[in-house]
Amino acid sequence: MAMKRSWVFFLAVCAICSLGADADIKFNIPVGKLFTFELMRETFQNDFQPLSVLTGILYNDPMVFKCNLQYSPDLPEWLRLTQRHPYDNGFLYGTPTSAGKSIIEIYAINKRTYETTKEKLIIQAFAENMLPYQAEFFLKLREIEKVLPSSVQNEIKQDLQKLWKTTELQIVNITNALDRGGRVPLPLAGHYEGVYVKVGSEQYFSACLLKVLTPDQQRQCQAGARVKIPGGCNYCNIPGNCITWCKTQLFDFSSPEPSAPPPTMGPGVLEDGGVFDPPEAPPSRDFLPDYLVTVIVPLVLGLILLALLAYVMCCRREGVEKRNIKTSEIQMYHHHTIHGNRDELRSMAEGRRVAPLSTLPMFNFRTGERFAPLQSDSPSIPLIMAQHEPSVDSMPR
Ligand SMILES: *[C@@H]1O[C@H](CO)[C@@H](O)[C@H](O)[C@H]1NC(C)=O
Repeated sequence: MAMKRSWVFFLAVCAICSLGADADIKFNIPVGKLFTFELMRETFQNDFQPLSVLTGILYNDPMVFKCNLQYSPDLPEWLRLTQRHPYDNGFLYGTPTSAGKSIIEIYAINKRTYETTKEKLIIQAFAENMLPYQAEFFLKLREIEKVLPSSVQNEIKQDLQKLWKTTELQIVNITNALDRGGRVPLPLAGHYEGVYVKVGSEQYFSACLLKVLTPDQQRQCQAGARVKIPGGCNYCNIPGNCITWCKTQLFDFSSPEPSAPPPTMGPGVLEDGGVFDPPEAPPSRDFLPDYLVTVIVPLVLGLILLALLAYVMCCRREGVEKRNIKTSEIQMYHHHTIHGNRDELRSMAEGRRVAPLSTLPMFNFRTGERFAPLQSDSPSIPLIMAQHEPSVDSMPR
């Protein structure tokens, strides 16, 4: 019995491993139609804990998704990834614009264990004719993640089918209003980011849709009034799926775009097949006025300034003698004393043997009388004493 049990266990493990390993997900999608792929958290949870089915312990780990085109750092231009919260499923969505194969690598990072797992998504886009009539609607009370599940897409499509009066309607594009310059809403109930839904059909627009184009409607919308959907055209059952009438846009691709008019030839363009014949010599020009203005005038100005400065500096200076004559004698005496003392201090710096003259008491400024050196034995004025002693070292202490 135990033997049999373990065999069953072993086989189950093998089956799960072989199923989980490298099962690439493949899609064949037409160009110009919306593609959505929901990144299911349960699938990746099974990759993290493949045995949870057997052990019976079910985990619900937070996980985040990272997606990129194989060998590239980012997703292809047309494809976007959105995941609101680590406990929410992620979505890859977008409308391929050209045929070709894209291999998308999806990494899921388990935010509890920090394990990662990888899956590969192979998207093969094939060319298909563009739907000639397209219309874009704005759903104000929606967020991109709430619109991408296929059930919600179908609800929206059903409402628009009634508005368009056709069942041949396909969703061409769904975009977050934030990706088109919308504002991040306040974090309050009743404020949503908004979603643009673009649908296309082979059938011409219904009478209801054409009302968007009437001048009367457009005037009302421009005036900023809260324009109601015209009577008999309101088909939304769920408030979230109601469209903002004034932001509806119709696109008619049925008639081929008129090609741009050919560029008009300017005089410098050669006639077809002609040979370029360069002119022999350019017409002569008189450069003398330019020369005078740019070279001679600044030069003359410079010379005048130079002469003025030279005159001021050389001829208008007061000489030192002139200044000395003007100065009163006693001030000159003071001045010379300072000079003399400075010189003496400088020479003293070489041999520190002699007491400086500057230590003598100052003469009386008003009378010009000189004080005799103080005769004192006080050790508090040793420098004055030093005048009588030839050497500072032999000073009494
Ligand atoms: C879908 O909408 C996005 C965002 O506005 C835009 O960049 C992209 O070209 C659209 N794709 C198609 C096929 O219209």
